[in-house]
Amino acid sequence: MTSSIRIAAKSGLGAGTRSGCLVVGVFENDKLTHAATELDRASRGQLRAIVRRGDIEGRIGQTLLLQALDNVPAQRVLVVGCGVARELTDARYRRVLAAAAARLMETGSSEVVSFLSDLPVPDLEVYWKVRLAVEATREARYRFDDFKSKRSGRAPSLKRMTLAIDEARQLPAAERALHDGAAIANGIDLAKDLANTPPNICHPTYLANRAKELARRHRSLKVSVLEAAQMRRLGMHTLLAVARGSHQPPRLIVFEYKGARGSGKPIALVGKGVTFDTGGISIKPAAAMDEMKFDMCGAASVFGTMSAVAEMKLPLHVVAAIPAVENMPGGNATRPADIVTSLSGQTVEILNTDAEGRLILCDAITYIERRYAPQTVVDIATLTGACVIALGNHATGLFSNHQPLADALLAAGQAAGDRAWQLPLWEEYQSQLDSPFADMANVGGREGGAITAACFLSRFARKLQWAHLDIAGTAYRSGKQKGATGRPVPLLTQFLLDRAGRSR
Ligand code: BES
Ligand code: MN
Ligand code: ZN
Repeated sequence: MTSSIRIAAKSGLGAGTRSGCLVVGVFENDKLTHAATELDRASRGQLRAIVRRGDIEGRIGQTLLLQALDNVPAQRVLVVGCGVARELTDARYRRVLAAAAARLMETGSSEVVSFLSDLPVPDLEVYWKVRLAVEATREARYRFDDFKSKRSGRAPSLKRMTLAIDEARQLPAAERALHDGAAIANGIDLAKDLANTPPNICHPTYLANRAKELARRHRSLKVSVLEAAQMRRLGMHTLLAVARGSHQPPRLIVFEYKGARGSGKPIALVGKGVTFDTGGISIKPAAAMDEMKFDMCGAASVFGTMSAVAEMKLPLHVVAAIPAVENMPGGNATRPADIVTSLSGQTVEILNTDAEGRLILCDAITYIERRYAPQTVVDIATLTGACVIALGNHATGLFSNHQPLADALLAAGQAAGDRAWQLPLWEEYQSQLDSPFADMANVGGREGGAITAACFLSRFARKLQWAHLDIAGTAYRSGKQKGATGRPVPLLTQFLLDRAGRSR
């Protein structure tokens, strides 16, 4: 968990601003930004002389920390490279902000003023520049050291940031951006915290308790939790089949958010919450199995999104279901060849107990359909290794039976810097799921594994406008930087902001 930072916006700030650190951009070819020019003038050419000496060329992401300039009251000046002036795009602007934020966390400044929000970026209004600055700063500031007996390294000392805005008339948009940005960053932090928490602590009951805690913080958010007995009574046997091997009982966590004008058919989210995926009897190899604690990142993104939506008080009706289970081998575990009946009535031959995500999601989708008759359902899951092979770690896989919904999700991801890429859901793939003994098998072979997983889910969403996000490649990082990314909270919150008709 990360301590808090206060970010504000202010107009009319200049080179005379007192601060622990001023942040200004420089372009390539010795070209100074507006704010850098002002600092240069105040310091009688000192800044330009330093840049000319060649310590910073102005390439994107370069930084140079200077101690006090002459006649400039700020203690430090952080100079940040912004690339070629006329080539500044929103993607490059994000990199500038990320580099500045990362460097700031290494300084001792507790309070800073950034002039990066007055850079000219085509098509980026003040709202976006401010929101991106908030999100980049919070991203750089995130730490997860709850489980270190000694805090690793120094905690970021940055407590206060002021974003310099050109004109006072832009302040209302900036204020809106500060509020939305903080709500989204809080949602991202929550998703990361839940996902990073080890699986001996973060089990289905823990998730259910955290859901109740979240609902206590927002009057507009309600939560209910189904236990195994209720699932059995309803007939959720594909979900129950996954939980059988574990000593941890399963939970179905159900959120309902009602904002103003939040009546009518809801938008539904369904997040895969496998708190640890050993593979079950079809057990996984040992290498990197620890990363299967991240198999609840879909659920975590639903937590983060519901938190952000409640904090932004969006005028929407949003419901969510999180099937939470632990997938373990054991004497009572489901076997390959077992046949179970889903809540929908369709039967499934479980050929591979490691294809468990689709088994819990299908019952959760049917449950949500029957209880809420939603206008739209989006499920989010670390569903297949095949999706990582297809798209790598940059794009989330997107599947949908309704193209306008797919387009809206793609556009939201593009705007939020959290992109998805659509893969086909063609009829031709469906026959890979044929079973000689049941209505379908739970696996469709190696070829097109991400697609046949989506095909499986589509059989439970025939009457719905539905989309599926496979986040196996994007929800967390491996290796030295191991940890949850918080994706796709930015995509989902943007999708809902768009649905709420909030201008970008
Ligand atoms: N949780 C995994 C998918 C996964 C793999 C996520 C790697 C992140 C990284 C999922 O439950 C799974 O095991 N899928 C199998 C499906 C197969 C048995 C059809 C897979 O991808 O190998
Ligand atoms: Mn699995
Ligand atoms: Zn899994």
